[in-house]
Amino acid sequence: MDGSRITLNASDMPIVTALRELADRPQARFYLPGHKGGHGAPEALRQWLGEALWRADLPELPDFDNLFAPEAAIAAAQTLAAQAFGADRTWFLCNGSTAGVIAALSAVCRPGDRVLLPRNAHRSAITGLIHCGAMPVLAAPDYDRAWDLDRGLTPETVALAIERYPNLVAIFLVSPNYYGQSCDLAAIVAIAHQHYSNSNHPIPVIIDAAHGSHFAFHPDLPASALTSGADLVVESTHKTLGALSQAAMLHLQGDRVDPDRVDRALACVQSTSPNALLLASLDAARQQMATHGRSLLDRTLTLADRFRSGLRDRGWIVLGDRGIADRFDRTRITVRTADAGLSGYNADEFLYARGVAAELPTDRHLTFVVTIGNSDADIDRALAAFRDLEALRSPVDPNSNPSLKTNTTVPTQSPPQLTEPAIRPRDAFFQPSETIALADSRDRLSADTLCPYPPGIPLLIPGERITQTAIDALQQTLAAGGTVTGWSTAGWVRVVRDQ
Ligand SMILES: Cc1ncc(COP(=O)(O)O)c(C=O)c1O
Repeated sequence: MDGSRITLNASDMPIVTALRELADRPQARFYLPGHKGGHGAPEALRQWLGEALWRADLPELPDFDNLFAPEAAIAAAQTLAAQAFGADRTWFLCNGSTAGVIAALSAVCRPGDRVLLPRNAHRSAITGLIHCGAMPVLAAPDYDRAWDLDRGLTPETVALAIERYPNLVAIFLVSPNYYGQSCDLAAIVAIAHQHYSNSNHPIPVIIDAAHGSHFAFHPDLPASALTSGADLVVESTHKTLGALSQAAMLHLQGDRVDPDRVDRALACVQSTSPNALLLASLDAARQQMATHGRSLLDRTLTLADRFRSGLRDRGWIVLGDRGIADRFDRTRITVRTADAGLSGYNADEFLYARGVAAELPTDRHLTFVVTIGNSDADIDRALAAFRDLEALRSPVDPNSNPSLKTNTTVPTQSPPQLTEPAIRPRDAFFQPSETIALADSRDRLSADTLCPYPPGIPLLIPGERITQTAIDALQQTLAAGGTVTGWSTAGWVRVVRDQ
């Protein structure tokens, strides 16, 4: 099958079809993987997971396809995915959006190039910088104090960055964020594409849309990053659609990014033994949405709305996002537990013990993700568990009940709007380093990413000079009972060793 020449229908599943045929073919298997269709699989696992799974776990056989030079089933499935998601070209990822983010940055940035990056970028973006050697211009996301969350970059911040750093080679954004809030992508893309960097290339926009795979399939969801004109878009198909964990996609649109560089960058970060089950799940998840996406998401939105209004009716404050309603994903339910004297962690623990598992607890709120996989029974159970939780709600005095205490407001200093590290993250990562007490670290260069919660925005990334302000902010976070991720021992930081 030549994926470029045959006629494709949205209801086709080329990878699933090819694997089914191959899995059932009688064959003396002398190739890898070693379980040989399940015959050598651990018995307990084979019985539990079923035989079909092992039979379908096939390598890149000549009559299947090769992820790195696709011509048959994978090529056809990727073409169908590009059509369904609105891209010019789509690559299947079997190492998650993590691989997509690293590859996207590496496809666009060369060592020493400057790229605009929000401070709250996922850690895969920092890995991407270490991999490609680019220098980030770090931009502070718009911070919502009432909710204690970062919303993303504004068009104004992007315009300012382009004015100050006219040689930027790319704009990298996270949109939507974990709470379902999208940036004004259309405005940002328009600003970036109007500008030609010093090398005379229009600036491409890379979007980490790990949480936005479903946007393409319902008009009541925010516009997808591709619809908004972005050049490279990374989506975790496994997060909000029906694919297996780690299965994701990278989409390309337009001619501002060279597809050959994307191919080469992906070859550096994808396994050379791509899991056929993951690829099949991407194929099937795309087919599911291309054929039934609208109705599945109609139902999902109805469930999410019922969850939100059920909570609001009982007095819980739920993130709704007035002002950016058309850029807010209603399938994300973020409840402000702090109003009830509960941290998101306390509430999460309570609900978990009652069979309700949320996605993301923070100090002051708890976020739930409603997808096409949820049911009315899930919403009933969650609302019932919240009713139980209300017994712990005010008049709880957090000071008299430490287990319910939320961390007090941490007066972390807002990071400056645009900053650059002193040296490239790649250099900070590879240079010899040592661990020293935070109190002694002033003026040293951080070798790690340190992220205080709240607000959960990295205060230091590799290569940044540690200021007294940063030390104070980290110490205040600790004193207020907050947490800092990125250090192995609280109060000790890894710094680049002085040469
Ligand atoms: C914003 C963002 N980007 C990228 C990733 C990485 O995605 P994956 O788990 O598919 O590698 C995540 C994971 O949570 C994320 O939240």
